[in-house]
Amino acid sequence: MSPVNLKIEGPRNPSSKEYASLLYFLSQSYGFSDLRWFENDTSFFYGTRPDQLKTKWVLKHGDQFASHVGIFPFNAMVDGRPIKVAGIGSVATHPEYRGRGLMKKLMTHVDRQMVQEGYDLSILWGERSLYKPMGYERGVFQDRFSFNRRFLKPLPLGKSIRPVKAGDWPTLQKLYTRHPFHTDRNVDYLKTLHRRFNRGIPEPIWVMEKAGKVVAYVIVFKINEGYEVAEWGGDVKNVIDLIASVLPKPSTGIVWISIYPGCELYRWALDHHEGQVRTPTSCMVKIINLGKVLKAFESQLQARYESHSLRNLGSLSLQLPGQDKVTLNFGRNLQVEVGAKSGKALMLTQSQCVRLLFGGTSPSYELKLKDFELELLDSLFPLEWYWWRSDWI
Ligand SMILES: CC(C)(COP(=O)(O)OP(=O)(O)OC[C@H]1O[C@@H](n2cnc3c(N)ncnc32)[C@H](O)[C@@H]1OP(=O)(O)O)[C@@H](O)C(=O)NCCC(=O)NCCS
Repeated sequence: MSPVNLKIEGPRNPSSKEYASLLYFLSQSYGFSDLRWFENDTSFFYGTRPDQLKTKWVLKHGDQFASHVGIFPFNAMVDGRPIKVAGIGSVATHPEYRGRGLMKKLMTHVDRQMVQEGYDLSILWGERSLYKPMGYERGVFQDRFSFNRRFLKPLPLGKSIRPVKAGDWPTLQKLYTRHPFHTDRNVDYLKTLHRRFNRGIPEPIWVMEKAGKVVAYVIVFKINEGYEVAEWGGDVKNVIDLIASVLPKPSTGIVWISIYPGCELYRWALDHHEGQVRTPTSCMVKIINLGKVLKAFESQLQARYESHSLRNLGSLSLQLPGQDKVTLNFGRNLQVEVGAKSGKALMLTQSQCVRLLFGGTSPSYELKLKDFELELLDSLFPLEWYWWRSDWI
């Protein structure tokens, strides 16, 4: 079967009739024996409803699925401002059709689709070498702490510490949305997390009740090196008591949590951690609409502008190929302006832009830029952002 002879149909969305064979194809491509692996992992996005099918893109050869790429839509909130995020996942080509450019063809199609559908940013978790040629770069570094379970003091399980119950979901939803960084999800999404994380641990979602009210929750799951906390909500003392109490016995080994700076749990972690690493894990980012992304971070940029007493600097413009120029105006307040006509802009590659906005260190280390206001960029970037483990795709 030479590539030229292949009669490939698509890209198109799968139909509801094809759904079962799509799941089979995905598991087969990843070498998973569980035919419902993908549906269990991100079940909110899987199913035969039109809104679930229209985000999946396939190529077929006769009756056989040859390749698939999925868009997993999120509305990420940054201090109350939305970023329309296209998560990319379930990227697969059937073993018999690999090396013929099919994944590349679908990624190119999905790229256009993301622009057409007005996404601001795309995020995925995968190999850098595979996705870098498609304009993605490692970004969104997070502090990942490990804790020795010996030093966490478990409380007895019972009425006040118990697995989540049907009536708890709206409270969990409220606790989650109190975080400055979260995705805009509904209760149905939250319910699917139970199915996602109960592999290797029968009860992944636990709550703490006080005076008949749920005041905190955690979502935990098994990883090779111990356990990990995928999500938490509530006051720090209650969250720590929950983590200490709900992991399976014996109470030894390591538990990992990625925590965003500034929250109470982060301050507790600085005092009690066993290890701390700053890592994007396998996260890759592509900026589709720089103006919208910077607008979402405007209050964060403003806070830095004030704390560095940066005044009367005029403006600073940034631009990505094919996108509008984005200007940071430094007046009384810092303002993000999209599409300003005058002034020169710093042209960035996708990779430079991701490292500037969401890199691991300051721009003067990350970017090879000449004749530019590196000191100014250093005081404003990288931005602080957090993506929950429970929202990985
Ligand atoms: C990864 C996968 C989707 C690639 O599909 P494919 O249709 O064979 O890919 P393409 O032929 O379109 O190759 C696109 C490019 O990626 C490169 N590539 C393919 N697989 C790669 C890998 N695992 N790592 C790095 N680069 C890879 C190809 O060499 C090609 O580069 P080129 O354009 O410079 O020649 C396929 O191997 C697969 O389904 N693997 C199992 C599931 C998986 O790992 N999915 C990705 C999870 S992040």
